[in-house]
Amino acid sequence: MTEFWRAVVLHTGRYSGDLVGVHQDLQDLRRDDFDRWLGLFRATVEETAPTPAAANYLITRAESITRNLEAALFEGAAGDGSASSRAQRRK
Ligand code: HEM
Repeated sequence: MTEFWRAVVLHTGRYSGDLVGVHQDLQDLRRDDFDRWLGLFRATVEETAPTPAAANYLITRAESITRNLEAALFEGAAGDGSASSRAQRRK
């Protein structure tokens, strides 16, 4: 998790996990859950980020990743073919 955010924010590029795959394995995950996730993320970042600009940056990045992840899981539009075929079956 730390490596993921380090890669997103600092571009150190050490995250090598399968973001789509781990979430695809969560059978009960629903599209609505992502709105809740973003709401909690936003509230946490606003409380903890050092400056409003930093908070905005993190929230913008998280929104974009979340929309891509949602698309991969629920629309079969993954950047990676294996993930999208499984997402298609679970629609
Ligand atoms: C409601 C939505 C979400 C739920 C319920 C959820 C739940 C989980 C769970 C249970 C894991 C552990 C999986 C495992 O180790 O087997 C996980 C891993 C992770 N999640 Fe989420 N997640 C959600 C949304 C997100 C979003 C939007 C992001 C990114 C912006 C994210 C980033 C990650 C990362 C980086 C990991 C570690 C992946 C790895 O080990 O390679 N998650 N999540």
